[in-house]
Amino acid sequence: MSTSSPSNYSLAQITLHWLIAALVVFQLVFGESIAHAERALARGRAVDAIDLFLANAHIWAGFAILALMIARLGLRIRHGVPPAPEKEPAYAVLVMKAAHFLFYVLLFAAPITGAIAYYLLPEAGEIHEAMKPAFIVLIAIHVLAALWHQVILRDGVMKRMIRPIP
Ligand code: HEM
Ligand code: HEM
Repeated sequence: MSTSSPSNYSLAQITLHWLIAALVVFQLVFGESIAHAERALARGRAVDAIDLFLANAHIWAGFAILALMIARLGLRIRHGVPPAPEKEPAYAVLVMKAAHFLFYVLLFAAPITGAIAYYLLPEAGEIHEAMKPAFIVLIAIHVLAALWHQVILRDGVMKRMIRPIP
């Protein structure tokens, strides 16, 4: 971890944040297609063409998230992240740190459990699927917190994830 805190997120960190966020939303919205495809194959039925396309996209997007997360973790260790706004109460800083940490855990665990379920051990699919509600709850809290900062506190936190201002 970088010892001194930078004053901003770098352009690369911002780009990775939004790219990964878009891919995660895609995975959550269309993830059921790969489950449908697997079920059809297991029952010896033909796989729907759209499900087949989305199932392949699920695997590619999942591995893309894993590769991008490795780059993101590397940047976080080298560049660091800006400190929480000065007026932020200690409990809110703690919740923010826990939420960001959980995001990192989920963003590595989801592609890894998905790959294990797909290539090695179909039973791991249950653990993989359980990550869907975890992601949804975390994203809801995260987006509400971002909107709270933007609309109520107006402390510029949202801007830090839009462009690298000094
Ligand atoms: C949907 C998937 C999303 C994921 C997985 C995600 C994940 C994260 C993570 C892990 C961080 C911590 C920064 C880091 O360590 O790289 C972060 C920061 C941030 N995110 Fe998201 N995010 C998502 C969506 C969003 C959305 C939709 C918004 C806006 C409405 C948003 C706004 C922000 C802001 C403003 C920060 C900076 C917080 C700060 O300054 O400390 N994120 N996000
Ligand atoms: C961050 C990356 C990923 C996310 C967010 C994600 C998310 C999801 C979601 C939401 C579902 C549907 C769950 C349901 O039907 O309720 C699913 C199913 C599935 N995913 Fe992923 N996934 C990711 C990466 C991967 C990867 C890399 C693979 C394979 C190489 C994979 C393989 C599967 C399989 C096989 C299923 C069906 C599981 C079953 O039916 O038991 N996923 N995923």
